[in-house]
Amino acid sequence: MTNVVPTARTSRTYSTRNSSTINSSGRFSSARAARSPIRPGAGEDLLARSTPTRLRPADLLRLTDQGAAEVIDGRHDHLLPETWDPIDRWSTRLYSDDEFDVWLISWTPDRRTELHDHAGSIGSLTVLSGSLIEYRWTGSALRSRELHEGDQASFPLGWVHDVMASPVTPAAPAPTLSVHAYSPPLTAMSYYELNGPHTLRRTRTELTDQPE
Ligand SMILES: [Fe+2]
Repeated sequence: MTNVVPTARTSRTYSTRNSSTINSSGRFSSARAARSPIRPGAGEDLLARSTPTRLRPADLLRLTDQGAAEVIDGRHDHLLPETWDPIDRWSTRLYSDDEFDVWLISWTPDRRTELHDHAGSIGSLTVLSGSLIEYRWTGSALRSRELHEGDQASFPLGWVHDVMASPVTPAAPAPTLSVHAYSPPLTAMSYYELNGPHTLRRTRTELTDQPE
């Protein structure tokens, strides 16, 4: 049987979203002041040019953090649905240029992504509300972790994972949302399935700019 190893929650937690709430119409409310539009930090070093992007994981984490703050501040309300689909995943692009794109994703418990990589892009995410479960391929087994509101994670090249929302309890009906950044912008993904207890088999590669 596949070795699925639970781990303690990881990543850093920030406090800027603790004062945010999601109102009955699904919009965010927050007393936080407006922030500047999404832009990567300046001064990336030349060493990053050995990767497919000059941006580093820390840059992408900053982008998803800022994207989450902008959603909370209401800057992207015009992109949000009237109601959150309780069955299917949903996503919208918050920002895109030649170097990176930033997405907001709504997750549901019954729609896992399948095991996939992000082809030639590195990525990151910030959980905006709710909790995610990620199953990551370690090279010999699947390892799971939960990512809660405020948690962040980054995905280097070759990262293979499956992601879904944790079950939403009646006491917490808010959508499970996360902001993702990819650099270079996402263009393809390969999908995998377990081939025995300790190996993966790639099943297909798709050209896509839709985030997972
Ligand atoms: Fe992914």
